[in-house]
Amino acid sequence: MQRIALVTGASRRVGAGIARQLHAGGYAIALHCRRSTSEAVALAAAFEDARTGSSSVHVADLAEPAAAATLVTEVIAHWGRLDLLVNNAATFEETPLAAADALAFDRIIDINLRAPYLLARAAAAALRAAGGAIVNLVDVYAERPKVAHAIYCSSKAGLVGLTKALARDLAPAVRVNAVAPGAILWPEQGDAGEQAAVLARIPLARCGSVEDVAGAVCYLAGAHYVTGQVLAVDGGRSIYD
Ligand SMILES: NC(=O)c1ccc[n+]([C@@H]2O[C@H](COP(=O)([O-])OP(=O)(O)OC[C@H]3O[C@@H](n4cnc5c(N)ncnc54)[C@H](OP(=O)(O)O)[C@@H]3O)[C@@H](O)[C@H]2O)c1
Repeated sequence: MQRIALVTGASRRVGAGIARQLHAGGYAIALHCRRSTSEAVALAAAFEDARTGSSSVHVADLAEPAAAATLVTEVIAHWGRLDLLVNNAATFEETPLAAADALAFDRIIDINLRAPYLLARAAAAALRAAGGAIVNLVDVYAERPKVAHAIYCSSKAGLVGLTKALARDLAPAVRVNAVAPGAILWPEQGDAGEQAAVLARIPLARCGSVEDVAGAVCYLAGAHYVTGQVLAVDGGRSIYD
């Protein structure tokens, strides 16, 4: 039986690494993207070269409230089932208190928290039928907030709560877990001084890799007696004093 994984934000960076590792583990991948369509198509082509009929590409702006249900309907229409939902797509934005208003709050919460909720809701019946799983990408900043990023940190703290709540609501058929990465890939407009300060607080004294995060997602996808858990992949950052 071909297992199907929907990975949101799968074109680039961490999402592409998760899609690659799940694909190597035997899943067919429904690659979701918003703007990075050419990267998603190229990744799908690489998957097709490795195994014909093992990928599909789906475009959706998850800030739109109706987009999650449409996306899941499209994926299930294409594949006929769904075994795994990986909520990876997110927006990471600096939001100084004085500057970030209700619109900024709603935009970040809509993408980082409401969309995973609506995707899980839309996928619940198919995941139940498959005995499937959900893995949410959260962040060490959910518990140890980053200055001037209150909305992002709150969105990820909310997603930790959602992970545990859905683990109750969808049990016993569907397991719901989260991976909390630390410093993996710097934001594309990164600041070198700030990066050095982050590294100084990581016991393992280096960034993690996309493969480290993808490995944790793959583990949770197949961990049949684990639900409602958050697995930190952060080089020990979350235990730093
Ligand atoms: N990078 C890290 O070190 C790190 C650390 C801790 C936690 N995380 C978490 O791990 C996950 C992946 O991290 P990342 O750095 O690879 O993420 P990213 O590059 O910031 O974003 C991943 C994807 O999210 C999609 N996205 C953004 N807004 C969207 C919207 N409105 N609708 C649909 N898709 C949207 C984008 O897709 P398109 O490009 O197609 O527009 C983007 O490629 C995120 O949840 C992040 O919060 C990452």
